[in-house]
Amino acid sequence: MNWSARRLNAIASITKAKYYLEIGVNRGETFFDVHIDHKDGVDPDFRFDTQQYASDTTRFFNMTSDKFWLSNKSTTYDLIMIDGLHTFEQTFRDLLCSMRFSHERTIWLIDDTVPSDVFSAIPNQSKSYHERKKLKLTDLPWHGDVFKMVMAIHDFIPVLNYVTILNSDNPQTIAWYGRRPAFQPRFNQLEAISRMSYFDIEPNASYFNFVDEASAMAQMKNIFESDE
Ligand SMILES: C[S@@+](CC[C@H](N)C(=O)[O-])C[C@H]1O[C@@H](n2cnc3c(N)ncnc32)[C@H](O)[C@@H]1O
Repeated sequence: MNWSARRLNAIASITKAKYYLEIGVNRGETFFDVHIDHKDGVDPDFRFDTQQYASDTTRFFNMTSDKFWLSNKSTTYDLIMIDGLHTFEQTFRDLLCSMRFSHERTIWLIDDTVPSDVFSAIPNQSKSYHERKKLKLTDLPWHGDVFKMVMAIHDFIPVLNYVTILNSDNPQTIAWYGRRPAFQPRFNQLEAISRMSYFDIEPNASYFNFVDEASAMAQMKNIFESDE
């Protein structure tokens, strides 16, 4: 089981999630290991035969997330993973649209919010790989500029609270509905956030609310178990 499925299952057992949505499924490495009653997966290019696994409770939508949000197929989800196209604009739109299909106890797991290096943060995947190749870098991590989404949540969605897991497997951001009473936008300009580069991450590290995985899960327990 990979780190995403591990975290999603841990959250699901805390909130007793019954409806799961994954944007960007690929080979299903996470999707198939998530143990939730109802699962919907969205991808314009599934890397497996979806018909073989589809059922009344496991649905696959062979389309972009934009098409999915505009379809009448979505339901209300308890747990949502955003891991589709790794650009700021698309992931921010996915988050905003998914809020329409959420409720007050919905939790989001957002992948790729911390790029591993300057090349992995290039939003154009081909360009990112091209730059790596030029330097003879053999690994191919690609996170795009999804990190800007954390900045945008910070400055523009004060009704969402969030932490970013760091230091155990891949970093990911967990978000949930929670007021941030000390809300204070820092840049207050989507355009300034959009122009950020990899090198703006470190000076703005406090944006991310970095925690380790155990603390993130303890916080989820604290909020959602005491909230029943
Ligand atoms: C990193 S992979 C997902 C990995 C998967 N969540 C997992 O944990 O194993 C990203 C996937 O997003 C899909 N994708 C690309 N653009 C998309 C879009 N606009 N809407 C939904 N999915 C998209 C790609 O086809 C690819 O399969």
